[in-house]
Amino acid sequence: MSGSRNATRSGSRPPENGASPRGRYWRLLALSLGSGAVFAVLFYLWGQELFPRAAGRWGGTFPFVGAVALTLAVALFLSEWFGFAGREVRKVRLAARDFLFLCSLALLLFFAAKAVIDLLAEIPALGRGVPTRVYAYLIPLPAFAMVVRVLINSETSILFTVAASVLSAAAAAGSWPALLFLLLSGTAGAARARRVPYRYRMLMAGVQTAPVCALAAAALEFSFHGGGGVLWAGVFGAVNGLLSGPIALAVMPVAESTFGYASDIRLMELSGTGHPLLSRLMTETPGTFHHSVVVGTLAEAGAHAIGANPVLCRVAALYHDIGKLGKAQYYSENQAGAANVHDAMSPGLSRAVILSHVKEGVRMAGEFRLGDRITEIIEQHHGTSLLYCFLDKARPMIQDRKASEEMFRYPGPKPKSREAAIIMLADAAEATVRSLSRPTPQEVDENVTGIVNRVYLDGQLNECDLTLRDLHAVGRAISQVLAAVAHARVDYPESGKGASG
Ligand SMILES: [Fe+2]
Ligand SMILES: [Fe+2]
Repeated sequence: MSGSRNATRSGSRPPENGASPRGRYWRLLALSLGSGAVFAVLFYLWGQELFPRAAGRWGGTFPFVGAVALTLAVALFLSEWFGFAGREVRKVRLAARDFLFLCSLALLLFFAAKAVIDLLAEIPALGRGVPTRVYAYLIPLPAFAMVVRVLINSETSILFTVAASVLSAAAAAGSWPALLFLLLSGTAGAARARRVPYRYRMLMAGVQTAPVCALAAAALEFSFHGGGGVLWAGVFGAVNGLLSGPIALAVMPVAESTFGYASDIRLMELSGTGHPLLSRLMTETPGTFHHSVVVGTLAEAGAHAIGANPVLCRVAALYHDIGKLGKAQYYSENQAGAANVHDAMSPGLSRAVILSHVKEGVRMAGEFRLGDRITEIIEQHHGTSLLYCFLDKARPMIQDRKASEEMFRYPGPKPKSREAAIIMLADAAEATVRSLSRPTPQEVDENVTGIVNRVYLDGQLNECDLTLRDLHAVGRAISQVLAAVAHARVDYPESGKGASG
């Protein structure tokens, strides 16, 4: 694979959702204006309370004038902030769904902040010994930053933390200690929610965030207001951290079902064979089910080798070929001992049937709400690669110009993430090695290297973040596990070599 071109994409981002830069800009501006208007309505409602001096000067007109001005200010802030990050930070996505999700969370946070501060101020027992300002240390930004990191990624969670801190600090009358605390506590929460495949990991992330929040709150309170409220600030900061895990766990399922995300916790739930799709795969297409389990094992090893997400790789691999359900006999892994139905079909018809499993898989993923990450991997697992098995059969048609080689390519898109690329490699490697009769570890290694080179030279990895070093590590990991798996597997017939993936 050495010396080949375009190993990794280190330059510009591909257009997202097919939108032009100008189209993305206007969409972002429209979304920002909409979000700004929503925030402005809140300020309209609480304008006099939040800006008493401005209200005094403008009197009754402030709410309206303030709301218009604030709409523009918030829209400008959001479009500049998200626009810049979307253009320049590789992993920050500009899809409308993500933007709406982040704005909804920021809005919810603003409400939560306002509710916490107002409700606590109503409790007379607290009011006597606790300065009102320290309630700001209960604003649950750490929980929300954790949710964003778990459902999207770390880069977006930092972005969200800064934007949400600025917007929700207004709920605490825009005080400096509140703003600094929000920035710090949100970052601390996001930093501790790295891999969260189990609920207790989320609770632990909150427990680990608590001391940081407590220290930050106490230090900020002391430096800005002296020793009076330090103890309460520390206690509220700690409570904020401790509650961040449970709050994040409560918010996540709602966000997943509303916006179509899939956390690692959701992925773990989907990995059980009790899921209707996996049950059907197991009973109706046992060959495909076995293939998917092996691909999952290979992909998980590949992910571990380069620090990608092993849970996502394993679970997405289980579902990557669900589009084959109902058409089991057309795929080589289900043809053990039976005739190859493609022998009696034209290459064009075979092509149409095989290519359809990607589209059908995406449709089923949507129907069963498998979430964005699995759906994207199903869509990308063949990229725009060639259907090599039917190409030879179609040669006469291609020579007579009745068909072209391009017709025997999957429609794509190519893998956009490291996990999708790993599954593509594991899928192709499993399909090829499966067709070998009792291969030695060296034969497995040679075949896997051949597959990795072929995928790479075909340009299938041009749109993902896999480096050459990653590619070698993934190939090595796949070949090691595959050698062990091939040692004790059931042989499949030669038919469909390298094409079933
Ligand atoms: Fe496939
Ligand atoms: Fe496959």
